[in-house]
Amino acid sequence: VTLILRTDPLNPSREILIQAARILLNKGIVAFPTETVYGLGAIIYYEDAVEKIFKAKMRPPDNPLIIHISTLDMLEEVALNIPEDAYSLINRFWPGPLTLILPRNPRVPKIVTGGLDTIAVRMPGHPTALELINVVGYPIAAPSANLSGRPSPVTAEHVIRDLMGRIDAVIDAGETFFGVESTVVNILEDPPTLLRPGAYPVEEIEKVLGRKIAIPDFARGLKYSEVALAPGMKYRHYSPEAKLILVESATDDYSVVVNKIIEAVRDIYSVSTSSDICIVSSVETSSYYRKLEKVKAVLIIGSRRNLYEVAKNLFKILRDVDNIGCKIVFVEGFPETGIGLAVMNRLRKASSSIIRV
Ligand code: TXA
Ligand code: MG
Repeated sequence: VTLILRTDPLNPSREILIQAARILLNKGIVAFPTETVYGLGAIIYYEDAVEKIFKAKMRPPDNPLIIHISTLDMLEEVALNIPEDAYSLINRFWPGPLTLILPRNPRVPKIVTGGLDTIAVRMPGHPTALELINVVGYPIAAPSANLSGRPSPVTAEHVIRDLMGRIDAVIDAGETFFGVESTVVNILEDPPTLLRPGAYPVEEIEKVLGRKIAIPDFARGLKYSEVALAPGMKYRHYSPEAKLILVESATDDYSVVVNKIIEAVRDIYSVSTSSDICIVSSVETSSYYRKLEKVKAVLIIGSRRNLYEVAKNLFKILRDVDNIGCKIVFVEGFPETGIGLAVMNRLRKASSSIIRV
């Protein structure tokens, strides 16, 4: 059975934290909220517990986990030879959604890193997560708390949907803050490389570093990498059951995107009576789809003027389209600026096909 532990996110209950910590110290696995998405945690030194994470998620063993810490002492416990650049970023962005790749301290079991000699580490900017790590007193390895390949969980209900009965407990502290995962940067490379766009915009990180970060195609979600540079990136991610068709444009003119979706939906209706088509639109464009009377649902993901809102609703909407029973879903693309890069990476990875207009 999976224990559900409810608490206020900002003032986590001491009793709940102690209960969760006890489970972790007994080599259990516990899902907990972070500012990005819910994570599924185990103490990094308990290899059996870490093994349980991979089993519960059905995650391939070569896809490494992120280590979560609550103090800089813990950083030195898990990493070696930490470069100056890392400290500049840490001073500015921690606690918060930035994950750094650093040399692995040999005391970190290799099961955590999928056999790599590097670690991924971050200090989460969520009071419940930070306090949990403090109470436990050890670094916690935690991937997102979803079944492998499913959209990441932004509520405890999402965790329960995927992992009920497969994990020891979940701390339910409501919705996470950002709704997309942390930004992963490899600062051991020159220039530093973006491995995954996330809640912190690359532009902000570049400002602190004083130099450009390389953004490979796979970080934009354009193709799956087969190389060891970005373990885990080669797997298909975030996919709903529905066939997701992403319609994107390199220009800021979203009317071409809207018109393409309308045309594509009409094309389908001209050859079939499909009644399971859905559209994911922005606040600004939803009214244009009213003329498509037969679509099952138009889901509004947020405003084009606030991509943080779009990011926050993204994974919830990817789950909603399945709950509603959409079989085909057309999704509008968004600009790749700021957190929009993380949104587009997730949408491209979730898509069955991409239409560029
Ligand atoms: O926001 C987040 O980062 C959430 C919360 C729970 O903290 N966690 C998360 O973990 O998204 P996960 O496992 O879903 O994604 C971790 C990714 C892996 O897919 C992998 O690509 C990368 O981080 N990663 C981990 N260790 C790495 C390493 N040593 N080198 C390169 N990439 C690594
Ligand atoms: Mg994940």
